[in-house]
Amino acid sequence: MNDTFLKACRAEPVPYTPVWLMRQAGRYMPQYQEVRRKVDFLTLCKSPELAAQVTLQPVEVLGVDAAILFSDILIPVEAMGMRLEFSEQQGPVLSPPVRGQAELEGLRVPEPSKDVPFVLESIRLLRQSLQVPLIGFSGAPFTLATYMVEGGGSKSFFYTKWMMFRQREVFLGLLQMLTETVCRYLRAQIEAGAQAVQLFDTWAGILGPQDYRTYALPYVKQVVRELKGLGVPIIYFLNGCAGLLEEMLQSGADVLSLDWRIDIAQAARSVGAEAVLQGNLDPCALLLPRQELSQRVQDILQGARAARGHVFNLGHGVLPQIPLEAVKHLVQEVHRLSRRS
Ligand code: CP3
Repeated sequence: MNDTFLKACRAEPVPYTPVWLMRQAGRYMPQYQEVRRKVDFLTLCKSPELAAQVTLQPVEVLGVDAAILFSDILIPVEAMGMRLEFSEQQGPVLSPPVRGQAELEGLRVPEPSKDVPFVLESIRLLRQSLQVPLIGFSGAPFTLATYMVEGGGSKSFFYTKWMMFRQREVFLGLLQMLTETVCRYLRAQIEAGAQAVQLFDTWAGILGPQDYRTYALPYVKQVVRELKGLGVPIIYFLNGCAGLLEEMLQSGADVLSLDWRIDIAQAARSVGAEAVLQGNLDPCALLLPRQELSQRVQDILQGARAARGHVFNLGHGVLPQIPLEAVKHLVQEVHRLSRRS
């Protein structure tokens, strides 16, 4: 069993810096494309054998130090009672969008073992064959709320802010229901065998600090507090974290996952004494010539040294256009350049 990743999360000494990548299973991989030719994305998420198969692909092909469950942050939202579709052009579509008390009352907090049994079954299957730790995950409450209110992705997040500023009580009610959903969902994943969990706050970076402290942070804190006693590291990814590092630290998460817009050395100096850092290569830096890519890896490894610990990752997910060979090279380089002699 390779437990380098778990050790790094706990700030214990490690022989090299462990690496895994957000969206490490996905369309940039021919092996994934082949499975996807046979089934649509949601069916894949709901078929434990297939979900386990694509979860294992990057572990085998890339040699990463952790696996992340193959699923999607919107799976529990569907279980709350919304209609979910993935369209090739638009990405996820959720209907009807939550814009008032009436829609909120139509939703419920799902019971994971009854409503998303396939997620727990995928985890149990994976634990039988994996030689690296398995990461479970959930969207953070605010990020899930944006999808539910917008009815999918968005550029301006107008309706989310409209809810914040014109339908405050409804929006807070939605966040509270989501917090309970996320707590139950992650607890069930841990009980099924997830050895770490990551909260994805992909869109909380659209908030200024004051609104972040009102609409995002308190709910993340509640989730972290609820899960703290369960003995698995909690990772918090906040996309657009540069102006929110102090707040991010207050979440109480063991590992803070940074996007690429901040110098990891600076983050290490400001919050790295109190948390392990994860990140933070620009996903598009995988397009660089190999030598320049290696230099970027070296810079990040060096910059993170001032932190309690470091898990190498991208600043966001691997993009479908990235060549598989570049991703393989990245993983090798992190291992080679970080090995302690
Ligand atoms: O990281 C992994 O390898 C595990 C699997 C995973 C997926 N989505 C698979 C996926 C994880 C952890 C996610 C999380 C997720 N899903 C997030 C948070 C992380 C982030 O990227 O910010 C978000 C915002 C979503 C919502 C989502 N799912 C969108 C916006 C899209 C469409 C955009 C796109 O890339 O197609 C998805 C679809 C999706 N989720 C795919 C995969 C592999 C592509 C589906 C396909 O095969 O067509």
